[in-house]
Amino acid sequence: MKALVIGSGGREHTLVWKLKQSRKIDKVFCAPGNGGISRIAKCINIAPDNFKVLADFAHRNKIGLTVVGPEAPLAAGIVDEFQKRKLKIFGPTKDAARIESSKVFSKEFMRKYHIPTAPFKVFTSAAEAMGFCKSVQYPSVIKADGLAAGKGVVIVRNLEQATRTIEDIMMKKVFGEAGERVMVESFLQGQEVSVMAITDGKTIRTMLSSQDHKQAYDGDRGPNTGGMGAYCPTEFTPPEVMQDIEDHILTPTIEGLAKEGVVYKGVIYAGLMITGEGPKVLEFNCRFGDPESQVVLPLLKNDLAEIMMAVVSQKLASTGKFSWHNNTAACVIMASKGYPGKYATGVKISGLQDGKDNNCYVFHSGTSYRDKTWLTAGGRVLGVMGMDKSLRLALNRAYRMVNKIKFEGATYRRDIGFRAGKPVG
Ligand code: AMP
Ligand code: GLY
Repeated sequence: MKALVIGSGGREHTLVWKLKQSRKIDKVFCAPGNGGISRIAKCINIAPDNFKVLADFAHRNKIGLTVVGPEAPLAAGIVDEFQKRKLKIFGPTKDAARIESSKVFSKEFMRKYHIPTAPFKVFTSAAEAMGFCKSVQYPSVIKADGLAAGKGVVIVRNLEQATRTIEDIMMKKVFGEAGERVMVESFLQGQEVSVMAITDGKTIRTMLSSQDHKQAYDGDRGPNTGGMGAYCPTEFTPPEVMQDIEDHILTPTIEGLAKEGVVYKGVIYAGLMITGEGPKVLEFNCRFGDPESQVVLPLLKNDLAEIMMAVVSQKLASTGKFSWHNNTAACVIMASKGYPGKYATGVKISGLQDGKDNNCYVFHSGTSYRDKTWLTAGGRVLGVMGMDKSLRLALNRAYRMVNKIKFEGATYRRDIGFRAGKPVG
């Protein structure tokens, strides 16, 4: 069977890599892909938002399974389009993707179905939001409603910052339409973890928990990024906490959506804070995490294509529970100088070889490959993943590889995994 992966980052490289290991798959295409992906799959130059052309391609090439990486095409309805044309696609419909694409929908849904999350209030008027901020405790959290490329969440320390943030989002519209409504939310303290689960709308299979490092600099300082590194599993979710997450967060979410008439098929990603009072939802995403995929999927023993096909045909119950390699995986993101702000591209990369070591793999986030030369092509450039018996050994493997790879201005965090061993709360 042929598969098509949509997207161009490290997550998509990981999905392609994992699908290629499937017994069911003999060829993988990626639209549009990147330099690294082009070494293991056939990249086709179609943009992820060009649904009609993608569906035509899938139809013409008899693609048996399409997998969508990023949230934007999901939120815009790519799955609905493929389904209309009877093409098999893994991912939630536009309605189901609202769990990520509208923070207000997502929080109101959680309130309705008693899914643990921080208390919040929604505002359509800047003046009212500012008024409310006079009575809240600080730090507090202000969120723009819509998709804002991961930048729509601001933790504010005082009223002045809160007022300025509301002004930016609602009056200056720095995130455009995403800022028509804002949410003011209580600040939660604890350990942040990501838990992804695969569901066909009836059955849920939870994956191992991972921890991302969102800030640009060591010690979790600096601006928020898409993620600078991750590791899996984490110690913050022992079996009873995972059970709690499944019973009180993931299952009621899928069941609640079903009650709303929405069948959720695909991967659901819960961004969680493990607080002193147990796990609480920070956000849901309707897709695989990046760089969480780069550390979770390498540990999965199951055939990913089989699982995804079972989701598409709503037969996930007939597949076994997931089984996992008894290892830890760690991923270090190498980024361009200036990321997450402005950065240059087209910078030559040296030291990259096609991986021979099964326990270390370089997933490409933003590269191109031309005339036998590797060049940077994005803010996040590479995700160097190491796997071993412990987090320490996995990190050693990843950082050894990082040290061999050079490009001008390469930046990376030197402290991935630093929260491991720290108490919750
Ligand atoms: P989100 O896009 O909603 O995940 O928010 C981005 C980041 O802001 C999260 O990864 C958290 O680190 C932080 N954050 C969001 N909501 C809260 C909250 N209620 N309390 C503390 N931190 C939060
Ligand atoms: N690493 C965070 C995300 O994928 O949303």
